[in-house]
Amino acid sequence: MMDAFERFGLLINDRVVRTPVAIASMAGIVDAGYVLERADHIGIAFIGGYSIDGPTMDAARAIASSGDRKEFIYDAPVIELKSQIDLMAKSDVIPGINLRGSTPESFSTIARTLGDRIVYEIDAHCQQPAMIAAGCGEFYLKHPEKLLAVIRALKSEGVTVSVKIRAGVADDDRTLVGELWKAGADILHVDLMDFGTAKLRQIRNACPLVLIANNSITTFDRMKDMLSHGADLVSVARQSDIRTLAGLDAAITRYAEEEGWYNAPKQLCRGGDIRSLTFCCMPVKECPLIPALTRIGMPKETYIRMKLEAVRGTQLDTGKQTCFGSLSWCCKTSSPCMFRDMTLKQAGISRKEYMRLKRDLSDMIMSRVFHDNTQDETS
Ligand SMILES: Cc1cc2nc3c(=O)[nH]c(=O)nc-3n(C[C@H](O)[C@H](O)[C@H](O)COP(=O)(O)O)c2cc1C
Ligand code: SF4
Ligand code: SF4
Repeated sequence: MMDAFERFGLLINDRVVRTPVAIASMAGIVDAGYVLERADHIGIAFIGGYSIDGPTMDAARAIASSGDRKEFIYDAPVIELKSQIDLMAKSDVIPGINLRGSTPESFSTIARTLGDRIVYEIDAHCQQPAMIAAGCGEFYLKHPEKLLAVIRALKSEGVTVSVKIRAGVADDDRTLVGELWKAGADILHVDLMDFGTAKLRQIRNACPLVLIANNSITTFDRMKDMLSHGADLVSVARQSDIRTLAGLDAAITRYAEEEGWYNAPKQLCRGGDIRSLTFCCMPVKECPLIPALTRIGMPKETYIRMKLEAVRGTQLDTGKQTCFGSLSWCCKTSSPCMFRDMTLKQAGISRKEYMRLKRDLSDMIMSRVFHDNTQDETS
């Protein structure tokens, strides 16, 4: 039996994430008590949303009194948040707080007071008119420079920052997420609405942030679809009942134990995201690899050198009888191939270990693409 880090390789706020299943916030509903009841089946939870300054607390009161939606109502946000965070500490769930604030100072003051043991999630998602009028929620997606200022303010307090967005609201999601990453955000939590996996792939191709996919992800099939198009975790809000969360957790744990890479991308020519370069061939023919390299601004020669150098001296540095003379160019285990499988057998590498080695190669490729390469617009 593998441990959680071997299984998923996920660290958030310097802690191992037990399972890539999260609870997404619902104002007035998801608090520490809600999370503790479900703690055995999740890796991280975002409680809230909590309003943290005068304008947003007034907005919360207005929403709650109109009777349309529940809200967490209190007079002293710090006291309320402290007590919720202390309760969360009774479990090994990584605690996150979803916050509605209208200025960078509101966020940095809270972070200075509550410290770095929690993930701070900026609510740039809420579409309640009163919240938008208070200058938070979706307001931030229409005024990205203000959102970037909030991220910078939180990062100046040395804390881990997640940004919760709704896809399709900003002028261009790809530009936005690239800017969020450059401003210092650590996690992108995205409500995909009805956009599906094509949008998720676009976002994955535009930033290297830890990516949490959200919206109606209540079955393992749907979860797997999200993970194979770029998500690192999935989150559930409305249907975050114990049965659903336990089902997702058990299924992804089993899958990771069997396959070795729980969120392996599809092959590029089957709609995979940028991580799938790890499974791509030598660039010898006209296929989706060529435009993909053009979009990331990487010459073919650099791509070839990058992969060969990355596997040198590793277990993937073998495979004379494969198509291109090295396992570094070989396909995903879901594509049947006797030449690859023969090579793996001779080298004493299990199919699961092969996928883990491909994951390491993909991590290195992502790092090269986003940290060492000048990227064009990706799709
Ligand atoms: C009643 C309710 C309250 C919500 N409150 C918040 C909130 O305070 N902050 C936030 O970022 N998202 C909030 N959301 C959005 C959810 O976190 C989630 O993005 C959305 O419900 C889609 O995911 P689901 O299909 O798993 O429910 C709320 C959703 C609901 C239904
Ligand atoms: S290089 Fe191979 S795996 Fe990649 S897109 Fe082309 S044919 Fe598909
Ligand atoms: S040897 Fe098999 S796995 Fe490797 S590149 Fe060729 S077809 Fe793909």
